[in-house]
Amino acid sequence: MSQDAAKRKAAEAALAYLEPGEVLGVGTGSTVNHFIDLLAERKNDIAGAVSSSEASTARLKKAGITVLDLNSAGTLSVYVDGADEANKHLQLIKGGGGALTREKIVAAASRKFVCIVDESKLVGVLGKFPLPIEVIPMARSYVARELVKLGGRPELRAGFTTDNGNVILDVHGLEILNAVELESRINGLAGVVCVGLFAQRPADVLIVGAASGTRIQTAA
Ligand code: A5P
Repeated sequence: MSQDAAKRKAAEAALAYLEPGEVLGVGTGSTVNHFIDLLAERKNDIAGAVSSSEASTARLKKAGITVLDLNSAGTLSVYVDGADEANKHLQLIKGGGGALTREKIVAAASRKFVCIVDESKLVGVLGKFPLPIEVIPMARSYVARELVKLGGRPELRAGFTTDNGNVILDVHGLEILNAVELESRINGLAGVVCVGLFAQRPADVLIVGAASGTRIQTAA
């Protein structure tokens, strides 16, 4: 089974978590794109969607799904999103697509976070995937120096501006043994908008698409 087929399997399984008549939170990325395509067939089952990026908003609208503002939607029952890495505690690295800040906001505003991945995203220790951090442009160099002190090798994501008008530093070389603490430390640096560690609010359900069958995990 190709990686793309595994992503689609995970997306299919996430449809079981739809809450009829409710507004759904929708993430960003190639796995979520499968989910949005499948959701088009089920659009009458939900009241609409809150989107985590301009890219997902465009795809949702194209699929005929009403996109709502989070401020008017209130607490969401379910949020469906992908990840770049996931560990057995369902802590995640996200932000490979650069939408981490809005993703973290929608995840925080949702009662249940359903994460959809293919098997390649499962890791023992987070950090092999470079950790994305959204930074206010004027703080870029300062934040990069602080990240070096934490043992990382930050690289500016070239030619990329987030939906919020900021830059991304991708931090290489981290072995993240205490994700909750690192999330707090990086969030505490002046100029950091958001770090792509989802540990304080991990996923509640991890759906893993694989050739051997789709597996559903809850936190260990
Ligand atoms: C977007 O900013 C990310 O957090 C994505 O959720 C993550 O990069 C997973 O993307 P894929 O589904 O494309 O692998």
